[in-house]
Amino acid sequence: MLEALNLCLEIDAPPESEEDTLHLLREVNFQVPQGHLMAIVGPSGCGKTTLLKVIAGISEQTSGVLKWENRDLEEDEDLHPGELGYVPQFSVAHDLLTVEECIANSMALRTQLPGTDDFEPKLDKVLEITGLTDLADRRVKVLSGGQKRRLGLALELVTNPCLLLCDEVTSGLDPKSEREITELLRVLSRENARRVVINVTHSLASLEAFDSVLVMYQGRLVYHGQPKLLTHYFTVEHPEEVYLRLTQRDAQSWHESWQKKRDHYEQMLLEKKEPAVRADSHADEKDEHAMDEHEAIAPEELPGMISQVFTLLHRRWTIFRRDKGQVWLHLAMLLGFPLLVVIFALDGIKPLKQLSQRQDSDIMFEMQQKAQHQIDQLNAGGLVSGLIMLQVVLVTLMASNNAAREIAGERLILEREKLGGLSTMAYVISKVLFLGVFVLAQSIWMGIFVDMITGGLPGDLIVKLVLLVLVSAAMTSICLGISGMCRTPEKATILSIYLVGFQLPLSGAVLSLPEWIEGAVNPFIAAFWAWSGSLRSMSDTAFYDAVKKVTETSLVSPELAAFVLLAHVVVGLSMAYVGSKGSQWE
Ligand SMILES: Nc1ncnc2c1ncn2[C@@H]1O[C@H](COP(=O)(O)OP(=O)(O)OP(=O)(O)O)[C@@H](O)[C@H]1O
Ligand SMILES: [Mg+2]
Repeated sequence: MLEALNLCLEIDAPPESEEDTLHLLREVNFQVPQGHLMAIVGPSGCGKTTLLKVIAGISEQTSGVLKWENRDLEEDEDLHPGELGYVPQFSVAHDLLTVEECIANSMALRTQLPGTDDFEPKLDKVLEITGLTDLADRRVKVLSGGQKRRLGLALELVTNPCLLLCDEVTSGLDPKSEREITELLRVLSRENARRVVINVTHSLASLEAFDSVLVMYQGRLVYHGQPKLLTHYFTVEHPEEVYLRLTQRDAQSWHESWQKKRDHYEQMLLEKKEPAVRADSHADEKDEHAMDEHEAIAPEELPGMISQVFTLLHRRWTIFRRDKGQVWLHLAMLLGFPLLVVIFALDGIKPLKQLSQRQDSDIMFEMQQKAQHQIDQLNAGGLVSGLIMLQVVLVTLMASNNAAREIAGERLILEREKLGGLSTMAYVISKVLFLGVFVLAQSIWMGIFVDMITGGLPGDLIVKLVLLVLVSAAMTSICLGISGMCRTPEKATILSIYLVGFQLPLSGAVLSLPEWIEGAVNPFIAAFWAWSGSLRSMSDTAFYDAVKKVTETSLVSPELAAFVLLAHVVVGLSMAYVGSKGSQWE
């Protein structure tokens, strides 16, 4: 039995509102026996989704008790993720995957079936009962609204949930499809003896298939009884007239009327009697027979964390491969940005090469002797510093592009998958492994390509490569953290772009900052550390004096630079973990 006792949900009203508190749910009471299919109906904005979220545990009630099989869901242990199925109002699948891949992924993230003999039959069964067999190879992007809703339902059926909550899975469908899906929900409610199925719907036209209808109005429960008694209770001729009827009294008055009659209507539901008002009494007999035959089906056990990481990683690469725009953009940056650096180096390559051949000579002496040579030295110093900074900035630009949308772009999918038992740690690790490939490829190629073409920039190549990898990892992690904290991918992208945009001016590489500002901002500017550490790695070459002549900012050791960049990585990944773990439903 699912039982709600005086459920209330209040939130602080927005500042412009006259009231202090918004009552999204007020004193909601109902009981739903097992093997039952209930509809929640009500005008838009009356609190249907809110009620479903409270039942699912996504939102917490301000007061009141919610019980499942006599277990207080707030105080006792929560439902096992496999016991709960929640189909949200929005699409919860990646556009570039096929229907079959989405369901297979859901099975891999939520069950231990992959690799067993039960996997294929289960996949086929889920496809079949949701009517998606013919669409198995179709990408989510091209599915119609109704087909997406079926898919949302299919994703939840992989675990045999005993509490199945559906938010408008039948909305926007043609009458035939709506009947079919409602019938499917009815079959599902009979299939497992422990199961309760709840479907939110706007439609008042086809409620006969439901065992009960719960009507919400302005956050109040104003009716919960058999569908056939709905017209009688609201004294209307057709169910469609109920919404109009509701507007004729205020919610408080409807609520008070319901309180007086509630026991009578709910008792009928619990006893499953009153055949006179059931048009389908014959069907009910069949149902009850079916119930006898069906045992409670145990929910599926969750897979281990490593298995989840592998599934997420495989899925991410599949999506990346199919996103041709992204693939080309990454290729263009990977190959184009190092070329850009080299173009700036072209004019200076010759003196650079000459200088590198004379590394062991007494450069200071030559500078005093030859004014022209001194100018060359300064130019070379400026060029080396500029090339290192350009490499660093372009690597951070690629890094922010890699990571900014990574979590925020799939936030709602993440929320649903967490509800289904996805471990946040597995999620973040999969992102680290995926983005790690880009970090390594982009920074190492940048370093090696520029070094090859310029005939070798001064300083230790390994140190410079390590710092490039670290600055890329630092910016990737921080942008991943921003992505995890932001509600929308647009916001995450803008913040990440600002972050990259500030790297160059605040690094001190172009113009040095006043000392007190430099000290305050430096810790946060990843580019400063990579640039500064790389220049210091030249300290035993003849270039170091030339480089120091063109930069007034004090340079740090490569070891310190690496340490600070690693700290950025730790902070960024912690932000990504905390951001992903926190709930950000719409
Ligand atoms: N976090 C929130 N902050 C402020 N108001 C909220 C919040 N969540 C919901 N509401 C308000 O609560 C009311 C109920 O929202 P809910 O989404 O439950 O409606 P609904 O009945 O599902 O509507 P629909 O049929 O359009 O989906 C709405 O007026 C909505 O604006
Ligand atoms: Mg809703």
